[in-house]
Amino acid sequence: MSDTRPSRRSEELVLSARDVRRDYPVAGEPVHAVRGISLDIARGEYVALVGPSGCGKSTLLNLLGAIDRPTSGTITIAGRDISSLSDAEATRFRLTGIGFVFQRFYLMPTLTAAENVQLPMAEAKVPRAEREARTEELLGYVGLAGRSEHRPYQLSGGEQQRVAIARALANRPALLLADEPTGELDARTGAEMIEMFARLNADGATLVVVTHDEELAKAARRVVHLRDGVVVDDAGRAAP
Ligand SMILES: Nc1ncnc2c1ncn2[C@@H]1O[C@H](COP(=O)(O)OP(=O)(O)OP(=O)(O)O)[C@@H](O)[C@H]1O
Ligand SMILES: [Mg+2]
Repeated sequence: MSDTRPSRRSEELVLSARDVRRDYPVAGEPVHAVRGISLDIARGEYVALVGPSGCGKSTLLNLLGAIDRPTSGTITIAGRDISSLSDAEATRFRLTGIGFVFQRFYLMPTLTAAENVQLPMAEAKVPRAEREARTEELLGYVGLAGRSEHRPYQLSGGEQQRVAIARALANRPALLLADEPTGELDARTGAEMIEMFARLNADGATLVVVTHDEELAKAARRVVHLRDGVVVDDAGRAAP
């Protein structure tokens, strides 16, 4: 049987992190939240990031998503070094380079589902007709074609998370990151979300998902275990 796993040839790397550290300077002892992590992720991989509470998962994900900058080390996404971007440059990079899905959805409460999905496209100056067509396509993809005019309070938690996924995909990012995407959902809705991530990956998305949810971690092809700010195990890594 042929091996269909993505190769790790450098031109196919979506993400490359080298000796990344993040210290939080708090009064007294600084917190060493990420203590020297190197990680390569190839196009099309599905990676779960797991480990005990406080081990640095969200800190690392925020660094990989250019929400935060490392204290030292380098992070390259889709060929661009994002380690020392200014806040304005990082915001611009995130708009089209990264899709981010949060545990608490963070939809704009006054906007409809369709308007939430359109927002990042409007910011990226995508023409209106293209924006509207893409929004319809994305809401259909996440199974919410009939909910486009609903505001977040008129949607279930699972539906809100699906809007958030559609929004994250709007500008066709190189990388989709999610921090505990099933954390606020009941088991059944969480299971639907796990199916959605599997489908996204089957359709070509490169995914990194932080999770405590064993079912979600099982669905990923590669599981990276963190402890005290370092990688202690990296099972299922694509063959070199
Ligand atoms: N802004 C901050 N300032 C200071 N310390 C922080 C900050 N954010 C996180 N930390 C600390 O850094 C460490 C890693 O936190 P992080 O949020 O990355 O953990 P986590 O693995 O995501 O945990 P959980 O599973 O509970 O979400 C923790 O010790 C935490 O207290
Ligand atoms: Mg966290």
